[in-house]
This record gives sequence, structure tokens and C-alpha cells, in this order.
Amino acid sequence: MSRTIIEPFRIKVVEPIGQTSREERRAALEKAGYNLFMVPAEKILIDLLTDSGTGAMSSEQWAGLSRGDESYAGARSFYRFRDTVREIFGFQHIIPVHQGRAAEKILFGLRAKPGQTIPSNTHFDTTRANIEWRGATALDLPVPEAENLSDEAPFKGNMNLAELDRVLSETGEGEIPVVMTTITNNSLGGHPVSLENLRGTVEICERHGVPGFVDAARFAENAYLVKRREPGQSTRSIPTIAREQFSGFRGCLMSAKKDGIANIGGFFATDDADLAEEARQVLVVTEGFPTYGGLAGRDLEAIAIGLREVLEEPYLEYRIASTAYLADHLHNEGVPVVRPAGGHAVYLDARRFLSHLDPTDLPGQALTCALYLHAGIRACEIGTVMFGTIDSESGELEPAPHDLVRLAIPRRVYTQSQMDLVIESILELHADRERIPAMRMAWSPSALRHFTARFEPAT
Ligand SMILES: Cc1ncc(COP(=O)(O)O)c(C=O)c1O
Repeated sequence: MSRTIIEPFRIKVVEPIGQTSREERRAALEKAGYNLFMVPAEKILIDLLTDSGTGAMSSEQWAGLSRGDESYAGARSFYRFRDTVREIFGFQHIIPVHQGRAAEKILFGLRAKPGQTIPSNTHFDTTRANIEWRGATALDLPVPEAENLSDEAPFKGNMNLAELDRVLSETGEGEIPVVMTTITNNSLGGHPVSLENLRGTVEICERHGVPGFVDAARFAENAYLVKRREPGQSTRSIPTIAREQFSGFRGCLMSAKKDGIANIGGFFATDDADLAEEARQVLVVTEGFPTYGGLAGRDLEAIAIGLREVLEEPYLEYRIASTAYLADHLHNEGVPVVRPAGGHAVYLDARRFLSHLDPTDLPGQALTCALYLHAGIRACEIGTVMFGTIDSESGELEPAPHDLVRLAIPRRVYTQSQMDLVIESILELHADRERIPAMRMAWSPSALRHFTARFEPAT
């Protein structure tokens, strides 16, 4: 008999969570324009909006905050941070930034130009926005099996290597400045990318003389899923696999708010000395001096400690098991979820969940609002609201390929009984799904629409 996988920590500090009545939630939703990003956190019972910056720090990380060296230049905390990142990721030049998108802004600000194309296994929304902000095109090249949300293939986060090779062969010199690979693939179900696929990407990039970069936000979860799922990897250590993921790439960007288990922070790391120098120059103008880059010394300490803790196997075993627990329970009860479970989140397939709605009825947004109204649970739409495009002639919103609702699980925050309540609430909603109304977008901004758009029920 296998042993129960437990949370490998005990709780030292607790925080009350927001208990509300259905009427209070209805009023909060209306006031927020039916956008969950606009609902105050005190009105949320279980917050699965994101796993970004929402993790619980360890006692060691809190101790690290006290050790933080707040010197403007050359702080001890920077050197501890730099050495940790060098050791884990294998790159020489380490540039701290205040969060992941600042690293994106620096890299694409330096390397992306109008008319260029940047392929990826799937770009995350801020990555796409930073590329488009430079006038370049963000091109997604997922593998075909990722399109089938029910397919149980182990590495649906992979890059489509044949397509990458084709795109690189068919474009002229300089048209593709960099290739990105996101591990795990957040926008497409949180699926991992195999080591074999990462090696394949490196080989293609080298052959075409284009530098490859990794978005490393969930590098540890990816390494653990490689260990569990990729043939020949089960006996290798997590740090060994984690480091091998970056082998042959020119550098990586990381939001440390995910697998850094920190509440803020990130970095850009590269072996390219010239690029690093250019990046430091931008950094001084937009983020801060190169040894703090928009962060306090204490943040650098917390990240350095978090990056080691995230590679501990009992932590990763618990982390991946708790995601699978939620996904498997829902799946076994007939709720349409993206298969198989990835690392940081469970994704409901809102189009199948709300099959009485059309994609233009914004089923992801409708389900997100219904889940909050029913149970005070906050999730995130990843579908037409986030990725739908506006038709240039009709001005209509064109549906995205999928309408998902992401239940992102903050690290070391919620207990199993809280996850049981999430399961219970979703099952209740599923049983009564036909009553969930369509949504309409009432107002939308020009970029990163999902953060601030306003909606209303269609009936
Ligand atoms: C894969 C990925 N890349 C980049 C980012 C952006 O990071 P940040 O939110 O720290 O700016 C995120 C954030 O959610 C992400 O999931």
C-alpha cells in the first residue's frame, strides 16, 4: 500500500479567509463589473486566481528577510542570490528584476523589432504583450496533442519541433531574433516540456543560428514532472534535471513569484556577455542598480532560499500530488478538465462544462463568475477574454481556440479540506450548470484585456 503524501510542513502563522454571503458576493461581482480581478481579496474564500506571488514563505525565508542587506550597491544578499541562480540554472550573468514581465520587457526591448517573429511552445500573456508592444509577432507552436484537452499524453507542453524547424527555414535572416520555450506551459494547461523536446529545440536553434531562451517560471515543477514521466529520468536528482533543462539555451527569464516561492521578484540570466551588458544598461534606467534591479535586499534573500526549497523532492511530491488530487477527483466525477494534471493548476474546460453556451457567450468568464457567486472561490479565465482577437473589419471579438478556467494553486497555502470544498463546490455547480448565464463584454482596454475589462450577464 502506498503511503499518504502529506504536506511536508506545519503551519506557524495563519490568516483568516473571507467569509461572505451569496448576496454580498453578488454585490461584489456587480461592483467589479463581473471581473474577478476587480473583487477585493477580503471577499474571497479560496483564492485560486493565480499561483504567482501568492505562496507561503518558509520560516527560513522569513529569517532571510531579516538578513537582507539593503546596501544600494554590492549587497551581500545580491551575491547570495547571484550564486544560487548560477548554481541552479548554469548561467553566468544574473540580472535581478522586480518580476517576470520586467525581464520580458528588457529582453524584447533589446532584441525584438517590428516585423520580426518570436516562436514559442506557447507564449504567456505578458510575454505576448511585451513582444507585440515592440511591434513583433508572437507565434505559438504547440504540439498537436495539446489541442485535444482530453489527451493523456505526458508532455503536452512541448514545442512542435517540426514546425519550429519549418518556420526557421522559411524565414529570412534576422527575421526571428530569439526562440522562447516556457516551462511548464502555463497558457496551454500547465503541461510540462520534456528534456528530449528541450534538446530538440536547442539543436534546431543552433542549426539556424538563433538564440533560444527559456521562461523558467515553473522550472522545478517541470523538472519533477520530467522525473516522473520521461523514460530514463526516474533515478536522477531534481537539481540535475532542473539544470539540464537549460543546457544549450542562451539564457532564461524567470518570475520568482512562482517557483522562487517569493511574493515578488524575478531575474534575467544569460551567458551572452554583450546582451547582459545591454540589459544592465536598460536595468539602471527602468528597474534599478544591477545588484538589486527593483528589489529590496530582503527580496533577493527570500528568492535565493525559495529557489533551493522548491527543488526539495518532498515538497515537489506534495505539490504535484495536490494538483493531481483536485484534477482527478473532478475528472472522475465527469467534470471536463484538461488532462493530464500539470504542476500548478487545474484547468476546467468551460466550453464543455457550459455546452449550452456558444464561445461568443464567454463561457470561461461565465463559469468564473458562477464559481465565485456559488462558493466564494476565485479562478481565472484563460480563453476568449484573455486571448480572443478583435476582427479588424467587424470589430467583433473572435473566440480563442479554447475557453479554460484556471484554478491555480498557491504554493504551501491551502489544506486538503479546503481543496475538498473546491471539489464539492464545482460538482454542485456542474450539476446545475444549465442555469449559468452567458456573459457579454461591456468595456475592454486595448491590451491585457482580462485584467480590467468589464462584463455583464447577457440575460
Ligand atoms: C509563464 C509565465 N511567464 C511570465 C509570467 C510573468 O511574470 P510576472 O507576473 O512576475 O510579471 C508569468 C506570470 O504569471 C508566467 O506564468
